[in-house]
Amino acid sequence: MDHLLSDTALEWRDRARDVGRNVILPNAWKYDRLQQYPWEIKQAMAEAGLMSVWIPKEYGGAGDGVLELCVVVEELSRYCGGAGVLFAVNALGSFPILLAGTDEQKQKYLPGIATGQTLIAFALSEKGAGSDVGGMACRAEKDGDGYVLNGVKKWNTNGPTADVNTVFAVTDPESRSRRISAFLLEKDFPGYKIGYIEDKMGIRCVPVGELELNDCRVPESALLGGKAGLGFKQAMLTLDHARPGVAAQAVGCAQGALDFALVYATRREQFGRPISSFQMIQQKLADMAIKVSSARALVYAAAMAVDRGDPSMTKYAAMCKCYGTDIAMEVTTDAVQIFGGYGYMRDYPVEKYMRDAKITQIYEGTNQIQRLVIARNMIKEATQFDYLTGYIPVPEELR
Ligand code: CAA
Repeated sequence: MDHLLSDTALEWRDRARDVGRNVILPNAWKYDRLQQYPWEIKQAMAEAGLMSVWIPKEYGGAGDGVLELCVVVEELSRYCGGAGVLFAVNALGSFPILLAGTDEQKQKYLPGIATGQTLIAFALSEKGAGSDVGGMACRAEKDGDGYVLNGVKKWNTNGPTADVNTVFAVTDPESRSRRISAFLLEKDFPGYKIGYIEDKMGIRCVPVGELELNDCRVPESALLGGKAGLGFKQAMLTLDHARPGVAAQAVGCAQGALDFALVYATRREQFGRPISSFQMIQQKLADMAIKVSSARALVYAAAMAVDRGDPSMTKYAAMCKCYGTDIAMEVTTDAVQIFGGYGYMRDYPVEKYMRDAKITQIYEGTNQIQRLVIARNMIKEATQFDYLTGYIPVPEELR
């Protein structure tokens, strides 16, 4: 599908491929077992310039967009889904700064993120507020010339290693639409503490933890964009930009599992023939390839919509996230099936793809929430089909 990409995007993919094949692939299973952050992989990504893809040129980045970001995420995830999110989560954490930060905040954080020196995370969810973002309880109260934050954020991907965290908290409990604000918190702010670190099924090389805020005092300059009450919309806009990256991670996992399954099917012999000669295996391989290619095309289309600021971007970002991650679960499960008994064993590579793929159906909005977002946007767009109403008899006319 290279013909869908610009030379720039293809160059980014080559760079990611280099890191993927030389550094990620030989180490992915080691870090999965150890559940340890792979600093050498992050270093290789930074040295290849990958952390700069989505950062504007004026802040030390390459000035490319969500499409190029997705191309890189997909290629890295082809070798390890954990490595894919280790990279992509820095885009998720920094999109709020890019989209809504003051110039001072951009100058302060973006150049470090572009070189890979600064790691960032995105703290939105809480124990009682996963899908229901508006129901969060973490408080930020105005205090003199700053704010004091209290509460616990949950499932903070990359949080335990991050230098900066984009944290959402309630500043106006009485308001419905302006209840939440976003803050840029640095790890050495007083009252900022990494809490429980999760033991996970997949993406085990990236730490996911709780963030405990105990009277965490922050200066006014930490308030994102210098304005309170805009946090919910800033979070939604961020997710519109980041969800294609989750879809790309899922497509990468699916492609990686398909690559392994294809090679295995041509090598593994049963009944005196390679199993790739059996039609049931051929059908599975073909269906896997159709799913991966169609999901990839949808990721590209959604990423382009986001880069253009197209009004349909929310819908397409949700569509590619939903479809890409659902097919990733199917394709990685089919890869395990093709490997048979060996596929279920940790000594073989494919069960990890299945474990890594599962989270993509859950984080950055469950696929149930994506379907809700898609349907809500379709219903809003229904007026463009008013020309059809004359062709639909109203029930009274039918009596
Ligand atoms: N862009 C801009 N504004 C938006 C928006 C968007 N995409 N979506 C909604 N809004 C606006 C609405 O227009 C509305 O504005 P008004 O009040 O002015 O009318 C306001 O925001 C509230 O919108 P809703 O009424 O639709 O809000 P809701 O409470 O019904 O929630 C939801 C909507 C889609 C369910 C939302 O809560 C949601 O996306 N939930 C999923 C959360 C999620 O993705 N969490 C993932 C956590 S991050 C993570 O996983 C990171 C990680 O670890 C890797």
